[in-house]
Amino acid sequence: MQLPVLPTGDAAPLPVDLTGGSDLPHKHASPPNPRKQKRDRSRSKRRGKLTQAQRDALGLDERWDRFYAQKGVRFYKDRHWLRRELLELMPPAVRDDPMRWCAPLASDGTGVAVDVVPATNELARMTVGLEAGCGCGSAAFPLLRANDDVFVLATDFSAEAIRLLKSRDEYENQLSSSTRRIHAWVSDVAAPPGDARWAAVEALADALGGLHFLTFVFVLSALEAAQMVAAVRRAARLLRPGGLLFFRDYGAGDLAQRRLDDRGQTDGAGTYERGEGTLARYFSLEEVGDLFPPALFDRVELRHVERDITNRAQGVTMNRRWVQAKFARRGAPPCFEPVAGAPPLAETGAARRRGAPRSSSPVRGADDGGDDAHCGDLAPECGCFASLGFD
Ligand SMILES: C[S@@+](CC[C@H](N)C(=O)[O-])C[C@H]1O[C@@H](n2cnc3c(N)ncnc32)[C@H](O)[C@@H]1O
Repeated sequence: MQLPVLPTGDAAPLPVDLTGGSDLPHKHASPPNPRKQKRDRSRSKRRGKLTQAQRDALGLDERWDRFYAQKGVRFYKDRHWLRRELLELMPPAVRDDPMRWCAPLASDGTGVAVDVVPATNELARMTVGLEAGCGCGSAAFPLLRANDDVFVLATDFSAEAIRLLKSRDEYENQLSSSTRRIHAWVSDVAAPPGDARWAAVEALADALGGLHFLTFVFVLSALEAAQMVAAVRRAARLLRPGGLLFFRDYGAGDLAQRRLDDRGQTDGAGTYERGEGTLARYFSLEEVGDLFPPALFDRVELRHVERDITNRAQGVTMNRRWVQAKFARRGAPPCFEPVAGAPPLAETGAARRRGAPRSSSPVRGADDGGDDAHCGDLAPECGCFASLGFD
């Protein structure tokens, strides 16, 4: 499938074939089993799956609203692995020891800030970034905890996700501190230029000379193909020359993709629809490289992250595969010094957080880069959420 061309004068066409998954092993469907079908129907109901007609009646943002209303703030666990993978944004102490304990944001009790887009002078000496499709803040808060100099503009088009994010203690704490470091609001990252919900942040980015960094963490896979291009265009618009774009998303060949393939939950052009109506896409390295054209971005890193996650109790091994990339906005040397790879961490099991207070940890379970637990339609079979020690 050919993606639309970026309508910026300096952008190269995106020859992106996002069909994906052609190299996947194909499993033949087994004959229908009425008892299994009945069991699956009742599981689907419990897990919030929608019929096709129900899905069609909802916009994508409403489907995500429904998803978050049902799953709550803790479905996506905090992405502490960013300390290891985004060393560019980390202070020296965290670079040296990415697994060190980073305390949650606390209030210093100095007063309550008004929760509006910050003024330019408020951010003058800070490293300012945008988390697009931030959900409930599972990437934003780990970044903020690890680096006191970071300010995160966090946006999602699910109003329910932003409501949950704002209900977190850490959000409230930073609003009652002398220096707030996060502002969250509802917007569509793929909205056309001139969209009113972006006006204030675009003006802020312009006043700052552009944002220092921008993250797409499991977000572009949730968009339709044309929206992906619009989101990338917005990223290019907001970043300063040399600014860092961080991408992590599902990789072609991920177990979840194979399951969705088996169930025929794809449009045949690389977009999958989970039972709850949210979209998914599984990227090859080439597709990600093509999505960020050289006219706009210099490639810094593009690779697979793979992990076999074993649930010993159930005897299930999940082959998870993600794609991770970093790009620098063209036009100047990168804002951040290149950094050597982080010390390797154990690939399985929960890596221990060094220095964490024993009893007051806000993070339960693995901090080893457990990545995105959104198995969606995987969950009914493997029960991975309940028993993998993710949460
Ligand atoms: C898989 S979740 C990831 C959430 C978060 N980045 C994280 O790492 O936990 C995908 C998110 O993208 C958001 N999203 C999907 N389409 C969007 C759009 N057009 N604009 C903004 N957010 C969007 C969804 O509401 C959802 O919160």
